Amino acid sequence: MAAVDRAVNIEELRRLALRRLPRFVGDYLEGGAGDGGGIRRNIDAFRRYLLLPRALADVTPVDTRVELFGKTYSSLFGISAVGIAGIYRRHADELLAEVARDANIPFILSGASHAAIEKIARIAPDHTWYQLYGAHVPEVTENMLARARDAGIKVLVYTVDYPLAPRSEVVGRTGVSMATGPTLRTFPRLFLDALLHPSWTADYLRGGGLPKLESWTAHAPTGSNAKQVAAYYALNWNNPQTWRDLDRIRGLWKGPMVVKGLVNADDALRAVQAGADAVTISNHGGNKLDCMQGALDSLAQVRAGAGGDIRLFFDGGIRRGSDLVVAKALGADFCFTGRATIYGVAAGGLRGAKRAIDILQSDLTYTMAMTGCRTVGDITREHVIAGGS
Ligand SMILES: Cc1cc2nc3c(=O)[nH]c(=O)nc-3n(C[C@H](O)[C@H](O)[C@H](O)COP(=O)(O)O)c2cc1C
Repeated sequence: MAAVDRAVNIEELRRLALRRLPRFVGDYLEGGAGDGGGIRRNIDAFRRYLLLPRALADVTPVDTRVELFGKTYSSLFGISAVGIAGIYRRHADELLAEVARDANIPFILSGASHAAIEKIARIAPDHTWYQLYGAHVPEVTENMLARARDAGIKVLVYTVDYPLAPRSEVVGRTGVSMATGPTLRTFPRLFLDALLHPSWTADYLRGGGLPKLESWTAHAPTGSNAKQVAAYYALNWNNPQTWRDLDRIRGLWKGPMVVKGLVNADDALRAVQAGADAVTISNHGGNKLDCMQGALDSLAQVRAGAGGDIRLFFDGGIRRGSDLVVAKALGADFCFTGRATIYGVAAGGLRGAKRAIDILQSDLTYTMAMTGCRTVGDITREHVIAGGS
């Protein structure tokens, strides 16, 4: 039995992942923005809510299905966009797409993926959503959207919460960009770290070293190697976005569009007025700012402020199936995981990613039954009270 199969919760997968990853990679995943306070607050916010079960409800069989944009998914959660994922495990994008397809949940391919858009769309044609950052060069954005559309991807996730590149104290300390990899200056320090983590290092070297950002290869100068493509990407991936850009992207993408990275009710309402089909309440998993409230608290505020009519997705701090029930009760129509599934794939590849999904799914099913909710629609605000530790 593989170690990941024995993990009983996401925290155990996290420990396995961090044991396998070199410190400079693990610290980056865990670091968040600034001093990391945003990540902690995202997780802690869940511990301040408790569930209020109803008894004698007919809860069998529990039905966790959710319908989104004309498709019925098997659960209340999907896998969110995580850029540069191949650094945690070679082919992480492909592995996550595969488990999402098999679990019948959505997989958001990051605009900073290592795998090409077309490859992931072939692996999971009915489950891949594409995440866009607005590139500096408008033609790059247009081209990415056209590629996603031509590959058959139906749902666009437009991430709007980074007007500047995020500031990670971990990267400041190590001097290593995850996209462009070690440099001559940083290599000696990282060498020992890599030696002490032989499983990760073997995977990295077997795959040919720094993974290439395949969707960006076509835009970088012809003949660029992985480092050069990453350098091109690092300069071009993100241009500060405004409401004008949202109008432009809405005009370019004909299918369902999700605007990701809002934490304010007025912003959420305005995004919907501008044509968003859903809004994801998210602080980028604590990678945006360290001095923000937990994403769950933002969700509760936005739902209260924006009313019940707009479709809200949520991510940030989900580590247990019961967290999904709390988020639904506080107003989320659907949830996404970032780190939970990355821990799984980092710790144990396909098996580990599947384990992460199984843990969340069985915990969700159990919690719904215990709360007296047979379907996701049965979970309401009355099922939670504030007041945990
Ligand atoms: C290492 C890392 C990379 C990320 N890359 C992206 C990205 O490329 N695009 C994006 O929209 N969000 C990105 N996110 C944010 C996630 O999509 C998601 O909002 C966040 O991870 C949710 O919080 P959680 O990790 O606590 O589940 C990233 C998050 C992490 C931790």
